[in-house]
Amino acid sequence: MNNDSVGKTITVAAILCIVCSILVSGAAVSLRPKQQLNKQLDIKKNLLLAAGLLKNAKASKNEIEEAFSVVETKVIDLETGEEATDIDAKTFDAVKAAKDPKKNVRIEASKDIAGIKMRAKHSKVYLVKEGGSISQVILPVHGKGLWSTMYGFLALSPDTKMVKGFGFYQHGETPGLGGEVDNPNWKKQWIGKRILGDDFKPVIDIVKGAANPSSKTFNQEIDGLSGATITSNGVEYALHYWLGQDGFGPFLAKFRAAGGM
Ligand SMILES: Cc1cc2nc3c(=O)[nH]c(=O)nc-3n(C[C@H](O)[C@H](O)[C@H](O)COP(=O)(O)O)c2cc1C
Repeated sequence: MNNDSVGKTITVAAILCIVCSILVSGAAVSLRPKQQLNKQLDIKKNLLLAAGLLKNAKASKNEIEEAFSVVETKVIDLETGEEATDIDAKTFDAVKAAKDPKKNVRIEASKDIAGIKMRAKHSKVYLVKEGGSISQVILPVHGKGLWSTMYGFLALSPDTKMVKGFGFYQHGETPGLGGEVDNPNWKKQWIGKRILGDDFKPVIDIVKGAANPSSKTFNQEIDGLSGATITSNGVEYALHYWLGQDGFGPFLAKFRAAGGM
């Protein structure tokens, strides 16, 4: 066949397409396990950073794994607050489960203050064990900001009333406005704040402007993000949702009653 013929040109182009697509899909398939491991490592790192168990955001894999060795992961049924021993904590993915009709629940509009519409029936919770006792309970939380769903970790004291640390690991808010949820100075002020009242109902309040140190409720107030009231409200509502009866409320009640799991 003539090298310049239409038939030969199409045949060569088709073979090239097939070879390239095999190469690209082969690379995607073979790299998937590595990508998943990196994603899991990144989530562990962000959890540790939020809980103050890791200081260096550029920590190596070994440093992250070592710091994570004090963390015990459990899967719980959000409605009952009981541990779901039939679900493997290593493979459970609440974000995926929230999209699966068999594994999710629709949140009634009147209760959906976090603006997430659906949530998984189950969630992971993380217990930090130091010196033979539980020093922190870490909860994954998420809620709608202005542009995006923000995903973060909230670390609580063993009595569940006080914040030990808080931080988001994924969001799409505007850098310099809502994106300031990532600002280390803003995150620092959460540490030691009162998040649940004596009746164990959420009391944390992100105020517009700066929290007033002479206010009676200063220990439960957080500075609002300037020019980002919608994101600030989204953070507050997400925490109220996840700490309430429809979120981790039943689990936290059981946890307290058992004096820690
Ligand atoms: C380009 C652009 C990006 C914005 N990004 C955010 C944001 O990420 N979070 C937010 O709450 N408000 C954002 N805003 C502002 C909101 O539209 C709204 O004005 C603001 O939340 C009101 O907050 P304030 O009362 O503190 O000014 C953005 C506005 C513009 C024009």
